[in-house]
Amino acid sequence: MAEKLIKVEDLKTQFTTKRGLVKAVDGISFEIKKGERVGLVGESGCGKSVTALSLMKLVPAAHNERVFGKIIFKGQDLVPMKDSQLKEIRGKQMSMIFQDPMTSLDPVFTIGSQIMEALGIHQGLKGKESKKRAIELLALVNIPSSEMVVDYYPHQLSGGMRQRAMIAMALSCEPELLIADEPTTALDVSIQAQIIKLVRELSANKGTALLWITHDLGIVAHLCEKIIVMYAGKLVEMADTMTLFENPMHPYTQALLRLAPKLERGKGRMPPIPGTVPNLIDMPPGCRFADRCPKCMDVCSQEPQWMEVEPGHWVSCFLYSKDGKN
Ligand SMILES: Nc1ncnc2c1ncn2[C@@H]1O[C@H](COP(=O)(O)OP(=O)(O)OP(=O)(O)O)[C@@H](O)[C@H]1O
Ligand SMILES: [Mg+2]
Repeated sequence: MAEKLIKVEDLKTQFTTKRGLVKAVDGISFEIKKGERVGLVGESGCGKSVTALSLMKLVPAAHNERVFGKIIFKGQDLVPMKDSQLKEIRGKQMSMIFQDPMTSLDPVFTIGSQIMEALGIHQGLKGKESKKRAIELLALVNIPSSEMVVDYYPHQLSGGMRQRAMIAMALSCEPELLIADEPTTALDVSIQAQIIKLVRELSANKGTALLWITHDLGIVAHLCEKIIVMYAGKLVEMADTMTLFENPMHPYTQALLRLAPKLERGKGRMPPIPGTVPNLIDMPPGCRFADRCPKCMDVCSQEPQWMEVEPGHWVSCFLYSKDGKN
């Protein structure tokens, strides 16, 4: 059994807003083992980005956010940690890539100087040694002419190349966990496929664990060993990739799979499931998918439990509780 890298226990992230308390993440639990590649999928507004930001403890403080529960990373709980302690972990043992590379890349500095800065902070590399490593990292993510590109500014690169440069920067500290929030969504399909292949190889070679967030089940099918399905701030199903595709249990997962584009093509956004993700303010009790669920029962007005129905396969749905109560 591979060792645990991160264990999330009953994580809740809430924002106090003028309109009320937004329970963006509402009691989720999962773990990622060392070197494991995990996909987090769900429709827009389900809480995927808030989950990622919570793991990095990067939720914008201006929004009166509160984080409850535990995020045990390599045996230490990040939730009560101060920023000074978190600096040791963030960007070093855990790093993140975003949908828009410009959130991570500063337009006024060259790509090389930004990677070199990270190398200086996290690995103590300086001068020529640092530049050499920056060029190596750019080459590692298949950027051609990396010895020239190292002196380019972000705007001199195409979207796909910028995305690669951001991956190079995220990998510069050799993190044990890389969290990626839809980093390929804006790219065209063939570039997306190249980046996914590259990340899979890098993760396998370096033993980097991944949490890959996406709308696109095709991407996680190719990239990840385990898939977590999220709906309205809660987890609804989690299983290894093969099991999830062959035996999806939750009606939400079933709907996602039915509507997902053909996996071989591995492209496109998921077409909508009738209805919308509910407003996460003042959620009524009970299963959150109930009003969109074709298999909804009376009991679904109560809260379904998150349970392991077969080894490694978790689901929260009354269809699978023995007495209809769970
Ligand atoms: N800073 C904030 N203040 C208040 N509400 C927020 C804040 N950030 C996110 N939310 C709310 O939390 C919920 C989850 O948002 P989140 O961005 O995590 O969704 P998502 O699954 O990443 O969606 P998408 O696929 O569109 O990126 C949404 O209802 C959103 O409006
Ligand atoms: Mg998001």
